[in-house]
Formats: sequence, structure tokens, C-alpha cells
Amino acid sequence: MGRSGTIYLDYAATTPVLPEVREAMRPYLSEEFGNPSSVHSLGQAALRAVDRAREEVAAVLGCRPREIVFTSGGSESDNLAIRGVALADRDDGNHIITTAIEHHAVLRTVSQLVQRLGFTSTVLPVDAHGVVDPGEVMAAIRDETVLTSVMYANNEVGTLEPIAEIGEIARSRGIPFHTDAVQAGGYLDLNVDRLNVDLLALSAHKFHGPKGVGLLYQRRGTKLLPWLTGGGHEDGRRAGTQNVAGIAGMATALTISQERRKTGGAGLRALRDRLIRGVQEAIPDAELTGHPTERMPNSASFVIPGTTGEALLAALDLEGIAASSGSACTAGSMDPSYVLQAMGYSDDLAVAALRLTLGYPTTDREVDDVLARLPNAVARLRAAAVPVMEM
Ligand SMILES: Cc1ncc(COP(=O)(O)O)c(C=O)c1O
Repeated sequence: MGRSGTIYLDYAATTPVLPEVREAMRPYLSEEFGNPSSVHSLGQAALRAVDRAREEVAAVLGCRPREIVFTSGGSESDNLAIRGVALADRDDGNHIITTAIEHHAVLRTVSQLVQRLGFTSTVLPVDAHGVVDPGEVMAAIRDETVLTSVMYANNEVGTLEPIAEIGEIARSRGIPFHTDAVQAGGYLDLNVDRLNVDLLALSAHKFHGPKGVGLLYQRRGTKLLPWLTGGGHEDGRRAGTQNVAGIAGMATALTISQERRKTGGAGLRALRDRLIRGVQEAIPDAELTGHPTERMPNSASFVIPGTTGEALLAALDLEGIAASSGSACTAGSMDPSYVLQAMGYSDDLAVAALRLTLGYPTTDREVDDVLARLPNAVARLRAAAVPVMEM
């Protein structure tokens, strides 16, 4: 699905807003335009919409509505969790544990705390499939550790992390555990008790909601210093008039995509596996990156020797296929992927990444078309590559 004729295989970057979601948002963009902080009935109608949305997302996460903080998206939720916990009580300690393959919203927040605010960090390695070893989390914990942050699913290679196990370890040592669940939102179980998490970040535009809205789950009792200060919105945890339409849309999008997870998850996995097999048959040296089985149900990611992600994306775009080489945030840069580097790939391969991410709207026919066009695009790029001459 996409702009007429475009095959969109970049659902990990963003997703189209569903018609039901647009419909859920519409009143709050027109007649129900009140400010949820206003006392009059127009304001109270908006507040009720925010409260209803809070209950709806809390039902999906299996938490109390008051444990949800609405934000402007995944980046803000990660920032609020990490900076908020780290700065909540400086006497608690100054050490943070995270991993080498986190999104920049986590990595750069941690590095700012380290470089500017006197924190120290342990950035854990991953194995060749991009998996963090819970034993390494255990070994990294110190008396001064105040937070552990490990993502639920990696955005570049789709690997799922053993977060329930890591959460159990963190809890046994009394350390808050944050997970960036931005990629997981529409596709994986989000029950915060089964996952053993204290903080969980989501972003609506990854699961057919609007851009610029997200949430942070904050387990009751987890200390958080609000750093967006102002009015007392969100129980004093995040100032700013709420994005009422966005929040209403996000709640509807989360409910629908979690229902689709149950009804359409197996079909999505089967389509993903057919795409992976097809690519490997047509391009025998294309290597699947990330874990072969413990991966996002919608993610097929590869390194394709003798190409660069940038050239490949341009060639696929000409073929009417929208794909990615990794995270959208670093697209356009020729830097090798730090995620692939952390997994042990050489720089040559870490610039040759291709990420194809499917969505519930992806059809068999689209997968067939990609399998018909991709090998030609790769062959053309390889044929055009000028061999490096010895001087
Ligand atoms: C894993 C992960 N975390 C955080 C983000 C940032 O989310 P947002 O675009 O809502 O700021 C993204 C977006 O690509 C992501 O994939």
C-alpha cells in the first residue's frame, strides 16, 4: 500500500493513519476543540476524551490509567524515562546500564548524562544476532546503578531482546527497568507485568496512529523528575496542553493494531518468511541480519555485499519500492550502521544494509513484485560498481 503504485516496505519508519483513527481524531480537530484544562463544558469534553484514551491504552498495557504519561512521541518518552529517573534523586547513584544497539533517543540521552551531568554508563555489547545477554546485565549492576534501559525490539535488524528476563534481574536488585518498545507497539505483547518493565515508551505513528504523539508507561512508585516543566498537566509529569486529537487517535490505533496482532500476526510472519527466503534464493550472498527467529514479525533485514544501502534505496525507489537501510533517522548518511558494527559486521557490510519492513496492509502480490524487482536492482548496482584500481 502507498502512493499510487508504490510498494511501501518501510513500516518500521512510519505507518499510514487508519481511517478509523482519523475518525476518532476528527471531533477534536473541529467542534470538540476545548482545552482539557478548561473548566467549561467544552474543556471537560476534551478532558473526558483524554481520560478515555488513557483508560484504553492502560487496558492494552495491563496497567492503571494514572501510570500513563502522554508525550510527543517515542523520542520524548525515552528522554523522559532516562533523564527523569537519572535525575530524580542524585543521592541514589549515578550509573546507567544500556546497550550498544539502542535508538539514538536512548544512546544520546545517556551520553549527555555522562558527558555533562556526572553520570557513568555501561554500554553492553550484543552477539552476532544483536541479542543482549541477561547475564551481562546482571554482571554490570553496581551499588550506584539507578537505571537499566534495554530496547524491546531493534529498529534496524528486528531482533527481540529478552526483556522479561532482564526486567526480573533488574527488579531483584531494586533497579528501575526501562524499555524502548517503539518498534513493538503494533506487533508484540505489551503487558507491562508479563514484560517486567517499570517504564515503557511507545510512539503512535509506528502503529497507524498520527505522528507527534506517544506515551510513557511509568510503574507506580518509580521516581521520575519531570523535565518539561510548566503547568501541572499529566499529573505534573509532563507540562503542555495535551494533543487531544493525537491522543484519541493513538488509543484507537493501539487497540486496533493489537487486535490485528492476534488475528493477523501469523499471516504477517508467513509473509515475512516468504520474503526472507525469496531474497536469499535470488541473491545467495545476501545475509539475513538480526536473529533468525526471535525477530519482529514484520522485519526482513539483510546485508548485500557489493552494494551500499544508499545506492540500493535509490535503485529500489526507481522501481517503485520504498525501503530503508536502517533507522530512518540516519538515512541519507553513508555512515556504517552502528547497530551492525556492534553485531560484528565489517564497515563494508555495515554500509550495505537493506531493511524491508512489512505491515498488516502488505499483500502477497507486493512481496512477489519485490522479489521480482530487487534481484535486478542489485545486479545492476553490482555491474555498475567500478573496481578499485591498484595505483
Ligand atoms: C526504536 C525506536 N525508538 C525511538 C524512536 C523515536 O520515535 P519518534 O519518531 O516517535 O520520536 C524510533 C523511531 O524510529 C524507534 O524506532
